Amino acid sequence: MAGRRQEKKGVVDKEEEWRSYLAPERLQVLKEMEPWVEEHVLPLLKSVEASWQPSDLLPDPAALGSDGFHEACIELRERAAGVPDELLVCLVANMVTEEALPTYPSGLNRLEVVRDATGADATAWARWIRGWSAEENRHGDVLNRYMHLSGRFDMREVERTVQRLIRDGMTVHAPASPFHGFVYVAIFEADPDAAVRAMAYMMRRRIDMPTAFINDGRHSGGDFYARFIAIAEKAGTYTLSDYRGILQHLIRQWGVEELTAGLSGEGRRAQDYLAALPNKIQRMEEKAHDRAVKAGKKPTPVPISWIFDRPISVVLP
Ligand SMILES: [Fe+2]
Repeated sequence: MAGRRQEKKGVVDKEEEWRSYLAPERLQVLKEMEPWVEEHVLPLLKSVEASWQPSDLLPDPAALGSDGFHEACIELRERAAGVPDELLVCLVANMVTEEALPTYPSGLNRLEVVRDATGADATAWARWIRGWSAEENRHGDVLNRYMHLSGRFDMREVERTVQRLIRDGMTVHAPASPFHGFVYVAIFEADPDAAVRAMAYMMRRRIDMPTAFINDGRHSGGDFYARFIAIAEKAGTYTLSDYRGILQHLIRQWGVEELTAGLSGEGRRAQDYLAALPNKIQRMEEKAHDRAVKAGKKPTPVPISWIFDRPISVVLP
């Protein structure tokens, strides 16, 4: 998300370039990867039996009895009492992102080949989409219940935010191309040229949190997101350096700089762009810091509905 405001000038290829990835011979690669997904990706999902459940992590009234439950809740509230406001806001944003889960499998099911066409397809791709969604579903549940018990949040405002976010959806840059959809997790060896170009395509458009349309009800969508980015930077939960670190990890992990065989001219340009990107981001961080210092900007108080309109002071760009 911190990369949202950067790399505007880097958008050089046409918006519709991703459509060329829907050619039958390209999609065939994804079909042929099915046994690989079965063998290497599906085992990454935990079975239901091996998964923690929200009830394992929170006070359970059935197991503790009413006195024990009451005591456990008091202890939970005492521990939550000292959490600073900016961290509370980041926690809500994370929880809301998890609770918008219906949006993500809908997105995955727009991808050619890998989609779960019937809702109960037996393909490895479809089982992975459902298994992943099922694992993810626990994250929102545990955060939501913790927040409810902690007594530190205006839960009605938080719940309204969840409803709004699911209603508003999320923008996907290449909505039908599995190459773009999965470029963060697979496909580099199967088709390095397509993969490196898809990665550059996505990075030129920046990786935002799925919550770009998040809105606490007091600001218009984009306005709130910009303020939230400033709050997350202040809290240190996710910064431009984190974004750069993740990108560096992915470039290393996939050996992007070492790819040689089978790269087209466009593929080599994408490779050069990606190799230079982390340094570019670092220079941007330094410039942003220098600019803020020079401008001597004063922090602006931003009231947030989720924490009863208490303001958080941040320097806005
Ligand atoms: Fe999650």
